[in-house]
Amino acid sequence: MRNKVTVVGGGFVGSTTAQRIFDAGLADVVLTDILEGSPAGKTLDMRQSGAISGSDSFADGISTAAGDYSKSAKSDIVVITAGFPRKPGMSRDDLLKANHEVIKGVVEGVVKHSPEAILIVVTNPLDAMAHAALRISGFPRNRVIGMAGVLDSARMSAFISMELGVSVRNINSFVLGGHGDDMVPLPRYCTVAGVPLPELLAADRIAAIVERTRKGGGEIVGLLKTGSAYYAPSAAVVQMVDAILGDKKMILPCAAYLEGEYGISGHFVGVPVKLGAGGIEQILQVKLLPEEQEALNKSAASVRELITVLGI
Ligand code: LAC
Repeated sequence: MRNKVTVVGGGFVGSTTAQRIFDAGLADVVLTDILEGSPAGKTLDMRQSGAISGSDSFADGISTAAGDYSKSAKSDIVVITAGFPRKPGMSRDDLLKANHEVIKGVVEGVVKHSPEAILIVVTNPLDAMAHAALRISGFPRNRVIGMAGVLDSARMSAFISMELGVSVRNINSFVLGGHGDDMVPLPRYCTVAGVPLPELLAADRIAAIVERTRKGGGEIVGLLKTGSAYYAPSAAVVQMVDAILGDKKMILPCAAYLEGEYGISGHFVGVPVKLGAGGIEQILQVKLLPEEQEALNKSAASVRELITVLGI
């Protein structure tokens, strides 16, 4: 039985995600965009690359300008990247209303044809868009997941690796909270070859890494000038796709709809979850110090504000 993943939105994040899934042979890929021709061109190009790289996945590109998502039917996973990207100086939250409209159209279109799919939401502001997708789809909370924690932790791991001159493969980072500037990196739970980070690095250097992690997306927007990051975001999505399709039971930080976990209810926040064939199979609750819980509450309050603005 072949797996099928639809990637909605053929921008840099979407097309790089599709290419990574195709290259790894994880699934057949359908790439959609409202543009005519571009998704078909990209996936034809991908298909031809398979003759060299050895991937025998299928890849198909469709224009959804007319709102027709029928070719995405029976997808196991739908990754939603469609939306307007951040421009320099623009916060993730500026995107709120414009992207809510985009999410509405997309989710209505895809769930009609893939009622059993797991949705991975990437469009910013991430936590609020995942909330919108949950409401619009009517799916249970285990099947609507936001991608952010894997990306934010990867950024933190890269910064720790650069600081210590140690392989990034030795590093495990831990970031909670919403995907915004008040996300909550937790140095206490970051390890280097199993050793807690605070034992290896001075407090001021850790504070600098925490700050750079929080602003990690903005730093790249500022450098690229015409868009936002896509290599690490796509790699993060693919790790989640791999965990779900392979039923890996992998613990990854993801945005999940909380119902009392961490004392938070009624919206999405980044927390460690177990990802497997059922999507979010468990939400892990780790012990937090009072100041860590306070930072998480603050981050959650920012997410709640967006939900209130949208009235969802
Ligand atoms: C980032 C933007 C996309 O973190 O939110 O790169």
